[in-house]
Amino acid sequence: MMFNVRHYERLGSTNDEARRLAAEGAEHGTVVHADEQTAGRGRLARTWFSPAGNLYLSLVLRLETPPARRQELSFLASLAVADTVDAMLPKHVRAMLKWPNDVLIAGAKIAGILIEQADDATIAGIGLNILHTPASAGYKTTSIVASGGLASVDGARDILLDRFGKRLAVWQANGFGPVRDAWMERAHPIGASLRVMVSGETVEGAFGGLDTDGALLLDVPGGRQRVVAGDVGVV
Ligand code: BTN
Repeated sequence: MMFNVRHYERLGSTNDEARRLAAEGAEHGTVVHADEQTAGRGRLARTWFSPAGNLYLSLVLRLETPPARRQELSFLASLAVADTVDAMLPKHVRAMLKWPNDVLIAGAKIAGILIEQADDATIAGIGLNILHTPASAGYKTTSIVASGGLASVDGARDILLDRFGKRLAVWQANGFGPVRDAWMERAHPIGASLRVMVSGETVEGAFGGLDTDGALLLDVPGGRQRVVAGDVGVV
């Protein structure tokens, strides 16, 4: 797939600039890359620590897939980020995935993914810690350099775009099945204890797998629960 990278020294949020460009008709494969963000956004209305030295980019995607299937993209994106991280770290280190789209190295978060819908375009925002980690995120964090890797931000961007393009092609040709399988293979094992925020409340259970649409299956004392969006901590 062809990417058209637009590079900026500083933006509020690359997702916001990607939305603006999408509204102006930016084509599929437009990439907004900023050296730093002054108003980086995370999931659940959090801010995303965005000093120069890490990777911040947003892809404009124009997909034929029905809107109900767009959440599958967050699994695809996390796999592409995990592929990228693995390529930059020593061979014995492997990125692990946490539902819905966290990429972890030894339990510490190294990247964040924020997928948003902007009219008929989908914006896939990805932040990858290369040099810096936030001082107090409320959870463990790491970076490529802190994990023993070596990378330039532009090098990381190019690897990420390559891996994203490959994962997207498989998804478009074969659907969610292979993405789901690859995600499960890298995720917490079946039965792992998870703590999930469901509409502001914490629910604890055992990981029962991913449903065919990407929903989390959580085994709780009362039975099996389907969780569509939330915040999971591997306990
Ligand atoms: C999360 O909360 O884990 C998601 C964080 C997503 C951060 C990226 S950085 C590039 C893009 N622009 C933003 O404002 N957010 C995303």
